[in-house]
Amino acid sequence: MPQQLTIGLFGFGVVGEGLYKILLQTPTLNAQIKKVVIKHADKIRNAPDELFTTDADELLSDPEINVIVEVINDTDAAFRIVSTALKNGKAVVSASKKMIAENLPKLLLIQEATGAPFLYESAACASIPVIRNLEEYYDNDLLSAIQAIANGSTNFILSRLFDDGISFSEALETAQELGFAETDPTLDVDGHDAAYKLQIILAHAYGIICQQNDFLFSGIRNIGLRDAQYAREKGYQIKLVAQARKLENGGLAAFVLPQFIKSTHPLALVKDEYNGVLIESGFSDQQFFYGKGAGSFPTASAVLSDISALSYNYRYAYKKLAQNKGGLGLSDDYFLSIYLSFEENTPIPLHHFESIEEWHREPGFNYITGRISVKTLWRNELWRQRGQSLILLPDAISDKPSTRRDTLKASLEAFLN
Ligand code: HSE
Repeated sequence: MPQQLTIGLFGFGVVGEGLYKILLQTPTLNAQIKKVVIKHADKIRNAPDELFTTDADELLSDPEINVIVEVINDTDAAFRIVSTALKNGKAVVSASKKMIAENLPKLLLIQEATGAPFLYESAACASIPVIRNLEEYYDNDLLSAIQAIANGSTNFILSRLFDDGISFSEALETAQELGFAETDPTLDVDGHDAAYKLQIILAHAYGIICQQNDFLFSGIRNIGLRDAQYAREKGYQIKLVAQARKLENGGLAAFVLPQFIKSTHPLALVKDEYNGVLIESGFSDQQFFYGKGAGSFPTASAVLSDISALSYNYRYAYKKLAQNKGGLGLSDDYFLSIYLSFEENTPIPLHHFESIEEWHREPGFNYITGRISVKTLWRNELWRQRGQSLILLPDAISDKPSTRRDTLKASLEAFLN
């Protein structure tokens, strides 16, 4: 028999209100919200006044409440709420990807000590059931790669830039109005949000627990109209892709970077606030998950699915962590094929490139494409500067340096020196 769930909800913003409305339409779930904790008591809300309180302890110590759902913006407060609720023996559902990604080691220990379940499907790719699938379905040995568009706001902005030709700031404003963007939208635009999601995905896909600065990530801030023009000429789209791929050296390549995507690639279908996850796995080859990655109801639908899973006593087993035991780790020993566009008079350190494919110069538009080692990208932050835009070429990852003799690089170096 499914358990009766009495919910204490923290947060009544985009996701909290969405969940409240969805629960009203799903009576068979046997789950009711008893109280909602809000920060500002004087705001007008579309729900009865008696539902709301500003007293967190009222919910955290209420023995009748057996599930805490936390969908607030404040990372530190979210961690306090989640850890206290788990310690008080309550099941917890959270949508706070930053809080989860930053505190996963502590949250694992608390789950182990308390035995209380903690679910967060909505924290990665919102409505796409990626965490539970990675956790339950895929064997670690066979999961060779994951490529994900994991941030709805940046995908929305890139779609608007490409399809409607509107400006970056206008597109970001719309993403904010529609409730896709974070309260601090730099988290979206600079790639942090996609990187938090990649951290969560790595834990459930490969049993790798890492911090954000353990892998390379950037966002879409430096992408300009010229880059979009280059993409169009080549028949590509530009997407911010969070990805992981097993390398021949036994390590895992993982990063979040913008990438040119061929029109035949499944991720090219992913537009607006949608997310997409392409999984490559032994024997099954490619599988593609697609769904809304941001917004009130899509995110709340994943929270609802966690609540429903709790009613059947579901919990994450963290199977890959148990399987991995430190065997598979992140590697920086591989190469990426990149496109780097830059402004006139920017010194481009050609010697950093391991090989060069193309070099283009015209007034107002300069770019270079070639292969570079990830260690060099880590050490050399030049490409993050304004006026420079680094975008991965399709099929960017290679294990080994190029073996062909790079005559273009040699002649360019001679020409420029
Ligand atoms: N700001 C996030 C995004 C919300 O745009 O994907 C969903 O996690």
